[in-house]
Amino acid sequence: MGRRKVLVIHGPNLNMLGKRETGIYGDLDYDGLNLKIVEKAGELGLEVEIKQSNHEGELVDIIQSQGSMADVIIINPAAYTHTSIAIRDALLAVNTKVIETHISNIHKREEFRRHSYVSDIAVGSVIGFGPDSYMLALTAAVSI
Ligand code: DQA
Repeated sequence: MGRRKVLVIHGPNLNMLGKRETGIYGDLDYDGLNLKIVEKAGELGLEVEIKQSNHEGELVDIIQSQGSMADVIIINPAAYTHTSIAIRDALLAVNTKVIETHISNIHKREEFRRHSYVSDIAVGSVIGFGPDSYMLALTAAVSI
């Protein structure tokens, strides 16, 4: 058996990490985050592929084309978490286990961030630990 494959998907504006609302999302930039993800995946013996898009349809295309080849999808749908039935449906269509991830604690912020279209179809959610949310999600991906 080969290594477990994990597809990490970052939604809109996450490419702006390190520049956007650093009081909420921290100083680590997008490339720095991905470096940490690759390192952590290596330590855990996971094979990892990382994708980002600012476009809803493109995120659907990524899920459709690569989602079923992965054992686990770790997704931070960013603002689409709260709006996108299309991303939810794409995740359901590929039948791959999902872990939802958020850098900030979406329950401690504005009311409109409290609802997620992904939480109830995910195996679990890792929310509010800063960039470490992704590392915790990778750890979980080893054994779900
Ligand atoms: C986010 C939380 C979302 O509400 C927000 O729109 C984001 C990032 C997070 O990781 O904390 O862009 O998903």
